[in-house]
Amino acid sequence: MAVSPKRARVMARSRRLGHCICDPRQACPCEAFRQHDVCHCAGERLPQAGGRPVLTQLVQSPGCASKVPPGELARILGRLPAVEDPRLLVGSATLDDAGVFQVSPDLCLVQTVDVFTPCVDDPYAFGRIAAANSLSDVYAMGGTPLTALTILSYPVHEVAEEVVAELLRGGLDQLQEAGVTPTGGHSINEAELKLGFAVTGLVAPAEMVTNAGARPGEALLLTKPLGTGIIAFAGQLGRASPAARAAAVASMTMLNRAAAEIMRRAGARACTDVTGFGLLGHLSHLVRESGVSAEVWWEAVPWLTEAWRYAEEGLVSGAAERNREYVEGRLQVAAGVPEAALDLLCDPQTSGGLLFSLPAAAAEACVAELRAAGCEQAALIGRVTELREGSIQVTSRTMPNDTPTPALEPPAPPAEACCAAAPAAPATSDAGQAFQQFMATALRPGALDVVQKELITIALSVCGQCEPCLKTHLAKALAMGLTPEEIAEAAWLGVAFGGAKAMMFWKGLEHLARNKEAVSGVE
Ligand code: CO
Ligand code: CO
Ligand code: CO
Repeated sequence: MAVSPKRARVMARSRRLGHCICDPRQACPCEAFRQHDVCHCAGERLPQAGGRPVLTQLVQSPGCASKVPPGELARILGRLPAVEDPRLLVGSATLDDAGVFQVSPDLCLVQTVDVFTPCVDDPYAFGRIAAANSLSDVYAMGGTPLTALTILSYPVHEVAEEVVAELLRGGLDQLQEAGVTPTGGHSINEAELKLGFAVTGLVAPAEMVTNAGARPGEALLLTKPLGTGIIAFAGQLGRASPAARAAAVASMTMLNRAAAEIMRRAGARACTDVTGFGLLGHLSHLVRESGVSAEVWWEAVPWLTEAWRYAEEGLVSGAAERNREYVEGRLQVAAGVPEAALDLLCDPQTSGGLLFSLPAAAAEACVAELRAAGCEQAALIGRVTELREGSIQVTSRTMPNDTPTPALEPPAPPAEACCAAAPAAPATSDAGQAFQQFMATALRPGALDVVQKELITIALSVCGQCEPCLKTHLAKALAMGLTPEEIAEAAWLGVAFGGAKAMMFWKGLEHLARNKEAVSGVE
């Protein structure tokens, strides 16, 4: 690289200071200079490697979304004074999609901002998705978006200008399709690429649709299939098929504009869009604010191509897990609802569909209208019910409505170390206590993880023919998600070393490995 006058000037200054002038924590000459003969301070860049960067690889914790956990945010907001202004019709307290501020008797501003990390690798598609996602909150309030400000951050030394231009072009094209005028924006040089929009829309106070208007007996409609989070996660692991990725991109780039128009015309009373908290998370806000309960018919919920299979394969991200915890307290799950259905119902969505309630009589026509308008998988997915304990029930549509559904299985209590299951050592026995302590130490994860250790305890329990030990560890192993096949293989190793007596012992108890209830019922 030829030495430019700019570099000569900048380097002279940096070397005199002993520090890089754009990052004083670095000495000058910096690492990039010594390795690549590039001076960032002089505006030089590493030549881009051929081809496009893989956008999702720039994300630092892709499995965790980029959101602050909802509980933490609520605690922080709780420490701040409430906003007292009669013109603020919808503020942050109600967990609605956007703020609504009344400017005249018949006009309100609807305002929202959303910024997030790439969920797809194509910059143009990501731009369109980010815009569709931000606009969606205005649509969910029954509003019409008017203007948008762009918010963009990226590491300037790493992402090429062409890529950034593509991102923004995607965003602008989407805004144009929505009839929204871009009014400016803000950009930041930062380690992580993020894009979003602050959108302002308008709504008449009488036409505003919040999350607080749902009434018992109403139908619940969803306008887009679920599964964008699961497919993005599978993609990051290189396990999503091109067809699944294409279906997810098509769904995420689709505006909720037409769906919102149909929703308003059909007389919807409550609406939200399904995004980071997953369908159950956003529905939990809606039932809470409306003072109602809801029933979700899992078989009626639409999924994206292959999302169900990925959920069954366990391709579920940490963010989905947090959403599950978030709703667990108000969730009742009927017997027989597959685990994959719950994973999908908790899957964080990017630019998901609208979820709304409307008078049941209008539901069927509304679904037909949505499908004709391009929401091909729009569906009636449940109903609003009277407030009762456990605000959301996930059930089968064919179940009689008033059968009380069993509560979700409580998490297994932490199992004790092996010999706690044997006749309890009296507290006065020092040796007994010491042995239990030793046991707990031996079982702690170290070079072997807890799952490996659990399988070893099963083999040893069989080999040593300790029935209480085996029962305790079978319960623990099943609660960890070990399969009956894995457990049996470990047990047969115990038989191999324990001989015929160990085999008779295992034969007498092996049915327990196939029956979770039987095992957790022992003790
Ligand atoms: Co420098
Ligand atoms: Co929203
Ligand atoms: Co939002």
